[in-house]
Amino acid sequence: MPPAIISPSVLASDFGQLTAECKRMIKGGAQWIHMDVMDGHFVPNITMGAPVLASVSKGVPGIFMDCHMMVSQPEKWVNDIADAGGSLYCFHIEATSDPISLIHSIHERHMKAGVAISPDTPSTAISDGLAELADMLLVMTVYPGRGGQKFIDRCVPKVAELRARFPNKDIEVDGGVGPKTIDVCAQAGSNVIVAGTAIFGAEKPEEVIATLKSTVDK
Ligand code: DX5
Ligand code: ZN
Repeated sequence: MPPAIISPSVLASDFGQLTAECKRMIKGGAQWIHMDVMDGHFVPNITMGAPVLASVSKGVPGIFMDCHMMVSQPEKWVNDIADAGGSLYCFHIEATSDPISLIHSIHERHMKAGVAISPDTPSTAISDGLAELADMLLVMTVYPGRGGQKFIDRCVPKVAELRARFPNKDIEVDGGVGPKTIDVCAQAGSNVIVAGTAIFGAEKPEEVIATLKSTVDK
């Protein structure tokens, strides 16, 4: 399994201090920063878009922005997110009819490409060809749309299925993940760990980051 990558979700941070919050996470041991982009259509909420991401990338040099695109037309935002400094562009398979072309266009803009599946989407929705082209697979462990939800256990077997098919691929889990749920995620084979509430809600985020990382790497 590839090494652990911890990607705190800024959805649980103070948006008024976004660059400072990102710096705080990187100083606390985070490798990536998870940016939840919601369009009010694929999911009911609206969060942020390319202009906010551009400010963050300017304010936090060297940041790896793990952009989780909860949007209905993921094809539409590739250029804007690339221009804003996005490092990884993760789209939902439920939102596109041509995921292969989309991955090619993401790679053309020199971003890594991720493919996300929502709780009701089976792991078989990700074909071998698609997964081989993708840099990361994201198994949602809550319904996309808001932070602070309860981890859905029945999503975990999908992580194990994907890990069995793709031993060397980055596999991310997102939603309700924290010290109480990391064991099952790590055992199933996820190595990229998103956590919002569990990290930002902690008195010492660096300790939570260290716990998540060591559980995956052990
Ligand atoms: C949910 C988002 C998640 C969420 C995670 O739609 O994709 O990234 O912010 O937050 P927690 O860890 O609080 O569930
Ligand atoms: Zn997310």
